[in-house]
Amino acid sequence: MLKGAITIPPDKSISHRSLIFSALTNSIVEIKNLSLGADCISTLKIFEKLGVKYEFLSKRDLISDSINFLSKKEDYVFDCGNSGTTTRLLAGLFSGLNVNCTLIGDESLSKRPMKRVIEPLNQMGAKILSDNNKLPIKIEGGNLKGITYHSPIASAQVKSCLLLAGLNAEGKTRIYEPYLSRNHSEIMLDYLGANINYGKDEKGFFSEIEKSVLSPKNIEITGDISSASFFMVAGAIIPNSEILIKNVGINPTRSGIIDIFKKAEIDFELLNERKITNELTADIRVKYTPDIKSFKIEGAIIPRLIDEIPILTLLATQANGVSIIKDAQDLRNKESDRIKTIYDTFKLFDTNIKENPDGFEITGKKEFNKDVILKTHLDHRLAMTYYILSLLNKGKTSINGFECVNTSFPEFMELIKKLKG
Ligand code: S3P
Repeated sequence: MLKGAITIPPDKSISHRSLIFSALTNSIVEIKNLSLGADCISTLKIFEKLGVKYEFLSKRDLISDSINFLSKKEDYVFDCGNSGTTTRLLAGLFSGLNVNCTLIGDESLSKRPMKRVIEPLNQMGAKILSDNNKLPIKIEGGNLKGITYHSPIASAQVKSCLLLAGLNAEGKTRIYEPYLSRNHSEIMLDYLGANINYGKDEKGFFSEIEKSVLSPKNIEITGDISSASFFMVAGAIIPNSEILIKNVGINPTRSGIIDIFKKAEIDFELLNERKITNELTADIRVKYTPDIKSFKIEGAIIPRLIDEIPILTLLATQANGVSIIKDAQDLRNKESDRIKTIYDTFKLFDTNIKENPDGFEITGKKEFNKDVILKTHLDHRLAMTYYILSLLNKGKTSINGFECVNTSFPEFMELIKKLKG
């Protein structure tokens, strides 16, 4: 049983953007509530190398002083660690700036596809060298031209990469995407006074930017719904639980899990809706729900809950009937091949699960009762999903490589302990 109230730590996506955009103001910006996950620290370290100074006022509140941003010229090597967001967003930024650099990453990041950003950046005139469109990639920045790009995938990393390139390109850069992906870059760029325009026209969802000077304004980061999702699902499936999850960002481009909770008829409510630096935020109360309905996830909702799919597969095992997840083939390109790794894990428990090229079919309701050793493949979202699973498993669960939770959510176990009482 999990009971009590917790405050969700800061959003990872918005934290990356706060570091990037504050650096581009060439000024002083106060950032409140920055994620201390390893991914965001990778971004922070890169800007430090580029001359930005950070002074922490408290654990998560800091001053970014970017007056000397880019004042030194050298050939840089930047380590992006495990972070796809750092890599893809900064590939766009550095392609447009006067920076020569090589981006490298850990073993998992070095396997992930970069063609999705290299191809459109090349169309803008970027000079990027890579072996097989994987890291390391070498960038010789400068002299970009704006383009109109129809992205074949709905990816906020691709979109934000091109917006960052477009900030320093000649003319307009316009990106269309098949479905709307998270719009944190657009919201923050707009807040800082960039020439940005986004919406929908007859060709689809677009975001458009022109060269802009960003104004220094203080930024506060709301809580991370992707981190909250583990507690939302835990509250719903662990008998007798009731959890109040405070300070959760519920931007509609991120809150697909709330739609699924409604479809699954989970006992939950949103309270105290407000905005934090233009990002919709609420507290979420979730109660154990013995009779969860099965659900289908497909099409436009996928980018709105892409990072929550691992924990939603666990929810599906606790729903009555067949739940279907499709159109989610990009899960194979995340920190692990999440379709294969999740399938392999549930199979260890003889779960009724079918692996498809683009998702799963899962039949519930399943009791977990096996002694198992689960492998995280150093994928943080798998580690946290498996921990919640272990709370249901009547057998003994060991999780290999659990420390990778630090990638996004170093406070995870502290909050679990608080709810266990
Ligand atoms: C992110 C976008 C998503 C998401 C990732 C963070 C971002 O990736 O999975 O965790 O901050 O822009 P894609 O753009 O590859 O879908």
